[in-house]
Amino acid sequence: MRCGLRRLTSVTLLGLSLGALVALSACRSVGTAPSPQSSSASTASSVTQAAVASPGLTPLTPLTPLTPLTLSTSPKPPPLSSDEIAAIVSHGPWPVAFTPDPGNRFSGQPAAIELGRRLFADPRLSADGKRACISCHQPNRGFADGLARSVAAHGGPLDRNSQGLLDVRLQHWFGWDGAADSLWAFVLRPLGDDREMGAGPSALAALMAGDPDLSSRYRMLDPNPDPTRLRIDIAKALAAYLETLDSPRTRFDTLRDALARGDLAATADYPGDALRGLQLFVGRGRCNLCHVGPAFSNGEFHDIGRPFMVDASRPDPGRHAGVKAVLADPYNRLGRYVDPIVDPTDDPAVRTRHLAPAHRNFGEFRVPGLRGAVLTAPYGHDGSLPGLADVVRHYSEIDLERLHADGESLLRPLHLDAQQSADLIAFLRTLSEPERRP
Ligand code: HEC
Ligand code: HEC
Repeated sequence: MRCGLRRLTSVTLLGLSLGALVALSACRSVGTAPSPQSSSASTASSVTQAAVASPGLTPLTPLTPLTPLTLSTSPKPPPLSSDEIAAIVSHGPWPVAFTPDPGNRFSGQPAAIELGRRLFADPRLSADGKRACISCHQPNRGFADGLARSVAAHGGPLDRNSQGLLDVRLQHWFGWDGAADSLWAFVLRPLGDDREMGAGPSALAALMAGDPDLSSRYRMLDPNPDPTRLRIDIAKALAAYLETLDSPRTRFDTLRDALARGDLAATADYPGDALRGLQLFVGRGRCNLCHVGPAFSNGEFHDIGRPFMVDASRPDPGRHAGVKAVLADPYNRLGRYVDPIVDPTDDPAVRTRHLAPAHRNFGEFRVPGLRGAVLTAPYGHDGSLPGLADVVRHYSEIDLERLHADGESLLRPLHLDAQQSADLIAFLRTLSEPERRP
């Protein structure tokens, strides 16, 4: 609907990391040619989920394994240039060292993590006792739910696709539109929203009072809890648990670490099609302008030209509404529910202080991380892209008419042939494929 209007707005580019820009500069060849591998080597397998216990709900259906790519032509990948190597190395090391959320006094505390882990799978947190966080965030689906849009408590779809929660601690705005500036502040929403869990303060108080296990765990964390802050403390314990959901090291990380130590021969152990896909990702595809750094996300918001109507009459304003929501949120990092900052030089509230709504934010959504993406289909904020092949086709055929100006300067149709598309998918799959131990 607003494409015409949005195209008129003036825009500036969001900050781009140096690591991403490296990929744009000219290439100098230094590597040795890796030997091509059978493309079936890129068949994805499941990401192992260490941190999660059994949900206690209906057993989850296993995912159908992906069909291996079979393409007849398999040209050797060209040797890696030094610029390509620098760009690849910037997507690690993995995992990223843990730093506690300075506004959440439970962050990183084992007792809080355990309390949060139990609550995440507990259907008693929902108004009807029938759903838990884990219903829409399923461990074997990368903590997403496999639906285009999640089903609300009273039937009908929610407005958006359930986000996978792996590596969520590395983000600084939460939700597809970044409607909260901390993980625990975001969690208050599904907790209280009738369409998701619908757990009101009195229901939560009754749950804690009636369950000696939960209440003793809570007292271990805070011997004198303030009863008016129970809901906030529950959100903080849930956030402490979610911060532990790191995606495992992958086949990509083996390659990346080898390149970081100058071992170019290691490219021979990485599938040839995936290596060509990776060169496309950091090269002509310019994917790493937005899918930056170890988590493959710059944590910011862009319009890539996906539809943004929730239904025939209602647009999803995306980041435009997200900015307003953060500023109006009494639980934001500027509010009084944030625990005292231990190290004032590292105050994440700075971002919130500088936040201002801008017209260009209409139809922008947060850049998703790409680790473990094989598990979280369908894709996009509305789940309108069923598989990775559909995502790649979108970027290949992107309609510039749908984008506002900053998107236009970053994206252009790539016109990939079948081999290039398959290569890009093969690379993306290695971000979900567990590292091979020697
Ligand atoms: C009915 C399905 C449903 C339930 C139940 C649900 N969620 Fe979600 N969750 C979603 C959807 C959909 C989104 C995307 C929200 C958006 O962008 O507006 C989401 C997003 C999130 C995010 C943001 C992730 C990110 O990367 O920014 C977190 C954190 C989260 N949920 C945690 C929880 C917790 C904790 C619970 C239980 C208290 C819960 N959710 C219950 C569907 C659900
Ligand atoms: C201008 C920034 C930008 C560029 C460049 C970009 N992306 Fe994206 N990407 C996004 C945003 C934003 C989304 C989410 C869009 C939405 O939901 O409407 C996304 C979504 C995705 C998804 C879906 C992930 C999910 O969990 O839903 C994949 C996969 C993906 N991009 C891969 C790529 C590849 C491959 C390239 C290069 C061909 C690329 N991206 C280039 C910003 C970008």
